[in-house]
Amino acid sequence: MALKLFTVLCLTATVLLLRAQVDANVLFQLSVMNKINNQPIQRYNATAKTGGSLLGAMTRLKQTSNNFTFTGSENPDFGVFIESVNNVAGNFTDRTFWQILSNKSGTPTPTPVGVSCYFPMENEHIIFNLTTF
Ligand SMILES: *[C@@H]1O[C@H](CO)[C@@H](O)[C@H](O)[C@H]1NC(C)=O
Ligand SMILES: *[C@@H]1O[C@H](CO)[C@@H](O)[C@H](O)[C@H]1NC(C)=O
Ligand SMILES: *[C@@H]1O[C@H](CO)[C@@H](O)[C@H](O)[C@H]1NC(C)=O
Ligand SMILES: *[C@@H]1O[C@H](CO)[C@@H](O)[C@H](O)[C@H]1NC(C)=O
Ligand SMILES: *[C@@H]1O[C@H](CO)[C@@H](O)[C@H](O)[C@H]1NC(C)=O
Repeated sequence: MALKLFTVLCLTATVLLLRAQVDANVLFQLSVMNKINNQPIQRYNATAKTGGSLLGAMTRLKQTSNNFTFTGSENPDFGVFIESVNNVAGNFTDRTFWQILSNKSGTPTPTPVGVSCYFPMENEHIIFNLTTF
């Protein structure tokens, strides 16, 4: 199961968890952009746990929101790879994929790690952008 595996992968999460206030929430903004299919930007307020992963926040948002969903596949080396967001899948033939960016620097910049090992900060703006490779 995904959750078990990513805690093994992201050892830093264990360390962060020890320091974290139990059950404290980190509020951040999550946007879904799909210019390729001319879709309007979809914005959500998301909640991570302090020291918790972006994947955890996405899973919570999927459970609590009627209009956010995603699918992913488990990679033993890199954690969960996002395959579709809001029912739009990346497509190898079309050379599209969901790029994950953070706008915390004021310029949207790809996150250095995947959703399993990325830990959102308060007020951070995370962007899922369908783009080409
Ligand atoms: C998602 O649904 C909520 C509640 O129905 C609505 O307020 C919000 O605008 C919707 N957001 C998106 C991105 O569709
Ligand atoms: C997110 O929360 C803020 C503050 O409560 C609110 O102003 C904003 O409209 C919310 N955005 C969405 C997309 O729900
Ligand atoms: C990927 O795109 C190609 C070409 O547009 C299409 O034929 C194919 O069905 C798509 N595959 C998936 C898995 O969506
Ligand atoms: C990123 O942040 C900058 C500075 O706050 C803002 O001007 C810009 O609109 C943001 N970009 C996106 C895609 O939200
Ligand atoms: C999102 O992807 C589109 C299509 O590839 C691209 O034009 C745009 O610059 C990307 N936006 C960001 C914030 O990276």
